Amino acid sequence: MSKNTPRTISIIPKPIQIVESDGYFCFNLKSAILVSNEWLEIGKFLQTYILIETGLLLDIRDINGSHPRENCIILSINAELTPQGDEGYSLSAAANKIHIKALQPAGIFYGLQTLRQLIQTNNDGTKIIPAVKIQDSPRFAWRGLMLDVGRHFYSVEFVKRFIDLLALHKMNTFHWHLTEDQGWRIEIKKYPRLTEIGSQRAESEQPGGDRNHFDGQPHDGFYTQTEIKEVVAYAASRFITVIPEIELPGHSLGALASYPELGCTGGPYEVQTSWGIKKDVYCAGNEQVYQFLEDVLSEVLKLFPSQVIHIGGDEVPKDRWRDCPKCQATIRKEGLKDEDELQSYFIKRIEKFLNAQGRQLIGWDEILEGGLAPNAMVMSWRGIEGGIQAAAAGHDVVMSPTSHCYFDYYQSKNADEPGGPFWEGAYLPLETVYAYEPIPADLASEKAKHILGAQGNIWTEFIATEDHLEYMALPRGTALAEVVWSQPEQRDYQDFLQRLEKFLPQLQKLDVKYRDPYQD
Ligand code: ACM
Ligand code: ZN
Repeated sequence: MSKNTPRTISIIPKPIQIVESDGYFCFNLKSAILVSNEWLEIGKFLQTYILIETGLLLDIRDINGSHPRENCIILSINAELTPQGDEGYSLSAAANKIHIKALQPAGIFYGLQTLRQLIQTNNDGTKIIPAVKIQDSPRFAWRGLMLDVGRHFYSVEFVKRFIDLLALHKMNTFHWHLTEDQGWRIEIKKYPRLTEIGSQRAESEQPGGDRNHFDGQPHDGFYTQTEIKEVVAYAASRFITVIPEIELPGHSLGALASYPELGCTGGPYEVQTSWGIKKDVYCAGNEQVYQFLEDVLSEVLKLFPSQVIHIGGDEVPKDRWRDCPKCQATIRKEGLKDEDELQSYFIKRIEKFLNAQGRQLIGWDEILEGGLAPNAMVMSWRGIEGGIQAAAAGHDVVMSPTSHCYFDYYQSKNADEPGGPFWEGAYLPLETVYAYEPIPADLASEKAKHILGAQGNIWTEFIATEDHLEYMALPRGTALAEVVWSQPEQRDYQDFLQRLEKFLPQLQKLDVKYRDPYQD
């Protein structure tokens, strides 16, 4: 090893084990990628990453061919492996070759994400990887970010870019919040008015204390089913599952404006221009509503192969149900105690439908109110209590409490800090995200297995541009990536900040408008 060869290996999220040794692999034009033809696509990802980092376009060769096993990067899938699980990998770099092994292709893909961060520039200008052995696998199975495209629409192109950023962070779940009071964003063939009417609003509420600033600018946008399929396939090739969210029974004014007969009062309704919790929700006593939702979900299930389907379930005021003869008749007919139980009845019907199609329902923690549906998963956002309650009862849980996972919150208390909701306390600096521990301390240890992981949520009431969205997402998403991937005993904020300094050039190369973590 040359004295001047940089040696600092710095990877985010931090792997389980890194053992460095002398020497290094040096890239040149004859370096090649060896992979089976079946996984050529993964070889191409590596080819692109190396091209970006080194300027060299390497050949991809069939691993089963008679090529020399020298000056190459070998990707071995179905390899015997020490790190367990479908997402683990091992990576060894030596002077003559680099070898990434994994039980499953996803593991190889994560090995490539590590490899991207290992490439360094030697003092003579050549591109190298220091000799190293890495063993790695994730702590949690659900590692995600949610993007709200209801409040502000984001293009297919941007959504793909967002998915690439998830991949860089070894995240595997993209939760796509597709329907809202302020806009319905997914084409449903049977109900064309959902996008003809529901995807457009007259203007948007602007930040400001008095809740009465509007921009006067129409806002619209939706994804065609063809585009949705394209995004789902794009994500799948990066080992990311797309979880669609179709909000019910609340946050549904995009749909009610399009089909007013689905509300308790019959409307008319408008796609909302202001933010907050709205009183008009789907009528829970109208069979037409259940038929509509089953029709919508049937089309959704054809587009999204994910096992888990998100149905929202949060923030449902009961005012209209209290005053609605149909809702009250359903309460009597079904022997329900109150409107909370009516909500539970609503969610259970939807769960029955999803289960019959072989899918599982997940909802925000309000679906616990009035009794949790028998097979439901819970996404805990109003703190961690809902998550604890659901896990204690044997339900799987994804943690996403406002305290650590709401990336629409302000990142500093500077007066000019872009944000953010209008309430006090909407403050979530990087260090707080990093400090998050998804397994609640007072959850019985035998129930911890029900905590599948965690995700960051990016609500976009006040995030109207792509640049602003990236500023809110990163590097808080980078911190969360380490929370959900790395072992808790390996986490150290000062060490993370040092590694982050080496990681940020990855984001710069992609022209990501992240927030400078070293500013106040
Ligand atoms: C939520 O933030 N209403 C889930
Ligand atoms: Zn009703």
